[in-house]
Amino acid sequence: MKVRTAVIPAAGLGTRFLPVTKSIPKEMLPIVDRPTVELNIEECVKAGIKRVVIVNGRNKPSIENHFDHNVELEAALTAKGKSEELEKLRWLTEDVEIVSVRQKRPLGLGHAVACAAPVAAGEPVAVLLGDDLVCSESPAIGDMMEHFETSGRGCIGVVRIDKKDSSKYGMVAPKELAPDGPWQVSSLVEKPAPQDAPSDLAIIGRYVLPAEIWPLLAELTPGVGGELQLTDALDVLARSRGLDAVEMVGERLDAGDVAGFILANVRYALLRPELKSRLVPALRKLIDG
Ligand code: G1P
Repeated sequence: MKVRTAVIPAAGLGTRFLPVTKSIPKEMLPIVDRPTVELNIEECVKAGIKRVVIVNGRNKPSIENHFDHNVELEAALTAKGKSEELEKLRWLTEDVEIVSVRQKRPLGLGHAVACAAPVAAGEPVAVLLGDDLVCSESPAIGDMMEHFETSGRGCIGVVRIDKKDSSKYGMVAPKELAPDGPWQVSSLVEKPAPQDAPSDLAIIGRYVLPAEIWPLLAELTPGVGGELQLTDALDVLARSRGLDAVEMVGERLDAGDVAGFILANVRYALLRPELKSRLVPALRKLIDG
């Protein structure tokens, strides 16, 4: 079955980025000159997804506005013949349908994804967490969709981490200890202490899930931190229908805290030749003093 819909949870308060997130949603903070959520949605569009459900909180109309026409701006750019700038905006309104749903209470990631059920229940779904950016030639979620569409099995994106950091991630117990994936998932545990981590394979924010996930999300009970955890629903899925873990091929950037966000900005800026030529000498000078 084809994956047509992606879900992007975006209802968090962004407290790590206060004060800027008092008035600007975290998802709208720029990586160079594009909001992070635009990078996530571009990844979806490149993978052939046509509909993205944004699970919004209060005060986040700017995400929806970004994917809607700005008539005055477009008229002004047209009048000035600024076709390059218009082209940068075109796909935002033409290539993807954005559906906004509300997560009315912050009950956890599993609950956030479940809020998309009125739009997507009954069909397979891709889930992208905005803090995780994957810098790669082909869209990371697209490779996972291919895996799902050929094998019929849901899959989660994983990276190898130092086990001392396991309490920041959902951790995978693979069925077999093969050095390279994809691995069949035996079970999953959310944010275990290092001594309890079943492997060094950590879930990053990319998931392609079969339609069977929806009832499992609806039945979630509070897990780690008292929250309804997506990882817990995936654990049930792994033990019943089966689930695979796929190692991410691209470079994964964690833009979820201030230092990671700044590094992601530097990384994406260095990919642009016109910026790289100015930035490299300036950064060297800054660092070397
Ligand atoms: C969430 C998931 C966790 C996953 C992580 C990846 O945690 O619950 O399983 O490893 O994203 O970024 P969060 O970072 O939202 O606490």
